[in-house]
Amino acid sequence: MIAGAVLLLATGCKSALDKKIDKMIEQMTLEEKARIIVGTGNEGRWVSETAVGDMKDVVPGAAGTTCPIERLDIPFVILADGPAGVNIDSTREHEAGTFYCTHFPIGTVMSSTWNTELVENVGQSIGDEAMHYGVDVVLGPGMNIHRHPLNGRNFEYYSEDPLLTGKTAAAMIRGIQANGVGACPKHFAANNQETNRMGNDVQVSQRALREIYLKGFEIAVREGHPKTLMTSYNKINGVSVSERRDLVTEFLRDECGFDGVVMTDWYGGDHPEEQMKAGNDLIMPGQQWQMDSIVNAVNAGRLDIKYVDQSVRRILKLIYTSPRNEPGHTYDNHPDLKAHATVTRQSATEGMVLLKNEGQALPIAHSVKEVALFGCASYDFIAGGSGSGDVRRAYTVSMLEGLQNAGYSVDPILATRYNDFVKKSIAENLSKVTTRFADMVRIRPNEMPLSESEIAAQVQRADYAIITLGRTCGEYYDRPSSDFELTDVERAMMENVCRLFHAAGKKVVVVLNIGGVIETQSWKQLPDAILCAWQPGQEGGNSVADILSGRQNPSGKLPMTFPIALTDIGANANFPVDQTSENVSVASRRVDRGEKNVDFTRYDEGIYVGYRWFDSRQVEVAYPFGYGLSYTTFDYANVKVNQSSKNIKIAVDITNSGKTAGKEVVQLYVAAPGASMDKPAKELKAFAKTAELEPGQKETVELTVAVDDLCSFDENLNKWMLEPGTYKLMVASSSRDIRHTETINIR
Ligand code: BGC
Repeated sequence: MIAGAVLLLATGCKSALDKKIDKMIEQMTLEEKARIIVGTGNEGRWVSETAVGDMKDVVPGAAGTTCPIERLDIPFVILADGPAGVNIDSTREHEAGTFYCTHFPIGTVMSSTWNTELVENVGQSIGDEAMHYGVDVVLGPGMNIHRHPLNGRNFEYYSEDPLLTGKTAAAMIRGIQANGVGACPKHFAANNQETNRMGNDVQVSQRALREIYLKGFEIAVREGHPKTLMTSYNKINGVSVSERRDLVTEFLRDECGFDGVVMTDWYGGDHPEEQMKAGNDLIMPGQQWQMDSIVNAVNAGRLDIKYVDQSVRRILKLIYTSPRNEPGHTYDNHPDLKAHATVTRQSATEGMVLLKNEGQALPIAHSVKEVALFGCASYDFIAGGSGSGDVRRAYTVSMLEGLQNAGYSVDPILATRYNDFVKKSIAENLSKVTTRFADMVRIRPNEMPLSESEIAAQVQRADYAIITLGRTCGEYYDRPSSDFELTDVERAMMENVCRLFHAAGKKVVVVLNIGGVIETQSWKQLPDAILCAWQPGQEGGNSVADILSGRQNPSGKLPMTFPIALTDIGANANFPVDQTSENVSVASRRVDRGEKNVDFTRYDEGIYVGYRWFDSRQVEVAYPFGYGLSYTTFDYANVKVNQSSKNIKIAVDITNSGKTAGKEVVQLYVAAPGASMDKPAKELKAFAKTAELEPGQKETVELTVAVDDLCSFDENLNKWMLEPGTYKLMVASSSRDIRHTETINIR
């Protein structure tokens, strides 16, 4: 009785906060409403002089704020990037001390863990730093699909697969928000290239949009409940995303249940009036003309005030429920950077992917004391990518330092030679850079040419050789195709080091310190072991050393395919490969000249992205989606399927059959009948990671697939349809290592 009455009260009455917001809206002038819809930025760092307001002294280096309305005592919130840690200035003009943040592993490392619990923990640490620095919304996670390996921002994103993307993003959002700050999944949606990112029109089918590009956001919203979300710069089928009501309101809010604030990407969209109608609440970081445009549109009767009020209501709710505006809330600018260094060190090891380990080259034998360390990236290790996804960290542990910390010694003469070369090469390359965004692109050294005698000297002293290959990438630029290939100097280094060390019976390990996929097929037979360490954050060198020394057993698996050649990729013909047309690589919109892959990009491959393409077309790959080795082995047995009208539950026993403790990622792929519908050869429908299993230990892993998730989007009927027939359920260790297949019938 009492409970019923309480429920009635709760549903029938507005909360105190709603009432307060109603009152505010009543009191606000139209200009004040426009003012709050149009946010501000920190002049000089991310935004141009045209942005309204200047809040740069609140949290210097934050990407922006909402505008306070002093007359009504309405406070503001602070928004700061980003996906790998809080991105604010590390020093301040008017304050002593430093304000470093932890550089956590890049997004791709997170998805390579396939461990949503771990991702949630990392998210909590990011949210905790945000809290300590007075940041209310973290502008992340980045979660666009890896449609093509050369997208410059893939490092911030998770995967070529929407399920892995959505689950990883949801975990990151839950983690960040556990602290009370908001997360902001971005960039919604189909923002898959940097080339002309502000003007590019993505021409994509409804089916591909639904099944590939929106799916991850749908999962992230339903399972992560983000407080905010960022629309992308690009157009979809002719209209800017922030101006599309079908996507921003009908899909996000009505279908997926999103109830937070939608904001533009910085300077995204051209028509504030349309953005309001679409349900894009916050325009970041706003400019005077945008405010004028909203006010004029309402006054002229073109824009119903209800749209404006609705957005103001959502923004006020964000403001009043944000930590900084809670009564008594203070922030101390002292996050526990030490504790977070441990989080980043440990989480990075779990996202590293062991691609090759012939003759058990890894872990490095205990007897080994001295290693020969080659490659500039060994000394100038890359913690993460550049642009807004960067973090002002206090330090980066290089491979040299990591190995030394783990007790290995490295020839100091070689180290000095490398360090000197790196400095000189960076200075030279820096002097050649002319673009406006030069400061945002991390300038890398060229690779240092090595003579045979130099390598031979190392063979004399060292027991093992380690070569690190480095690649940087970042916002504003897609990678050139040359970045996918090894350079001549890198190739010579690889061939000569392998030849000379192998001749002496010594092993060679290659570490990939990369933010995106590179070519491996032509050289992968040369070294004994290959570890893809990605860009693993500020503790990178320690994390790699933990794996190489065997302190940690690698358990990451690839969240994308490593193709043999770029031309093997479904999307390759419709991606701006080396299309560096004038004025398209920087952040400005360019005049539409109808140039293919620049002004518009046709997603002709449809749903056939990543392994969906390679497996359906039976294209050979260098390393398949879901692949990754361990220092131990796992047996799969006793698969049981339990089917109801709503769900399919699969149980499988995983036993550690090797000699080292380790974790296994179990994947479930489904192949639909494909008789009455065009379906890929297989699709990932569930995954799970075991706990750390001791040798001989068994865990029963349970995977659940909702029958609804087997549907495909029928464009003619404009709805999800379930194909009847026999479905194959494949319990797998990777997309090309299927351990058990079962079938079920669906009517
Ligand atoms: C990026 C966003 C970022 C924003 C604010 C834009 O250039 O695309 O990802 O959150 O800047 O820094």
